Amino acid sequence: MENWINRLIADRHKNLPKTEFQNIMKIAAENKEVISLGPGEPDFNTPEPIKEAVKKAIDENKTHYSTTGGSQELRELISKKLKKENNIEANPDEEICVTTGSTEGLFLISSILIEPKDEIIIPNPGYMNYNPTTSFFRGIPIEMNMLNENGFGAEIEEIKKKITEKTHVLIINTPSNPTGNVMKKKELEEIADIVNDNNNTIIFSDEAYEKLVYNDNKHISIASLNGMENKVMTFQSFSKSFAMAGFRVGYVSGSKEVIKTMKRIRIYSTLTNSNFSEYAAIEALKTGNSYSEKMKIEYERRGKMLHKRLNSIGMFECNKPEGAFYMFPNIRKFKTNSVNLSNRILNEAKVLVVPGTEFGKYGENHIRMSYATSYEKIEEAMDRLEKWVTNFK
Ligand SMILES: Cc1ncc(COP(=O)(O)O)c(C=O)c1O
Repeated sequence: MENWINRLIADRHKNLPKTEFQNIMKIAAENKEVISLGPGEPDFNTPEPIKEAVKKAIDENKTHYSTTGGSQELRELISKKLKKENNIEANPDEEICVTTGSTEGLFLISSILIEPKDEIIIPNPGYMNYNPTTSFFRGIPIEMNMLNENGFGAEIEEIKKKITEKTHVLIINTPSNPTGNVMKKKELEEIADIVNDNNNTIIFSDEAYEKLVYNDNKHISIASLNGMENKVMTFQSFSKSFAMAGFRVGYVSGSKEVIKTMKRIRIYSTLTNSNFSEYAAIEALKTGNSYSEKMKIEYERRGKMLHKRLNSIGMFECNKPEGAFYMFPNIRKFKTNSVNLSNRILNEAKVLVVPGTEFGKYGENHIRMSYATSYEKIEEAMDRLEKWVTNFK
């Protein structure tokens, strides 16, 4: 019986890569002893005024369908925000579409811009959605190695080699999940030059962590660079910036032809966002950045401590935190692979970390540690690791 049903499942669903991530998170949730450095979402609660705005919206019966591309009020606020914070000009009626988190944006835009056999350059290690989404639409993922001698970042020469007339999309993600790297202006300009010379390629710029940038680093949207207006689809989100992951609101900005197509396909997928979640997003944009700023200061404090502790343990090598809430230390001194090491850390030190290979093959020799958990817990996790390393054989 089961085989018969299996035959009905479309092939494109059968070849999706398996990931250990859900398993790992389940172990952490079930085992109270474990300190999890696994989370991919803020540990902060949604700011009170945002929650109040939703309660009010529900009481006022804002429980009907919204508009397919997002309410007019929300799109206008997004357009102002894009101009002020990202230096991107986007017409609220034609060049912005609100989405159910940036995940829906990536999926729908991929459905529009990826044809079978198109080559899609994706960061590796990179956010775990890019490869399966590309494969789902029968595109060919071309891995761009993001680890180089100077740390993490796109190797411009590698992009030049890999970009061909078959390259339809180049995906960049800054600040990066999983490396925490923030792309520098020069690097973005070089990428913009490459794409400007190639009339087949559009950039997907995933900026989910745009507000979490530390030290002297600065978030720059590649769409704001000269000549890039029509060559970039920018994906942003309320999930990380405003601790609103459960509200599922994000947005895409870019070419009006693509956004028009997106609104059409959205009618057949989600139709509209949750109406009251849009009110949460409206309140977030009206309140400005004071909450994001407070969260950022705390992440920065944790990141600094984590960096210092990891380096003092001596077996982990890592750069200063730049952005997002991840550290991606090199573990080569342990002389074992990242899955083995993560298992041992989990079983023996009772600390959950994510193997680097969950983010692609070039993530080998690294583990991801999230600092979206309290300062005290991170300190405790480092105490455990320090002790564990002393006895490591
Ligand atoms: C790099 C990156 N992009 C996009 C997302 C998706 O975010 P959301 O769908 O909540 O907006 C995530 C979530 O972890 C992420 O890490």
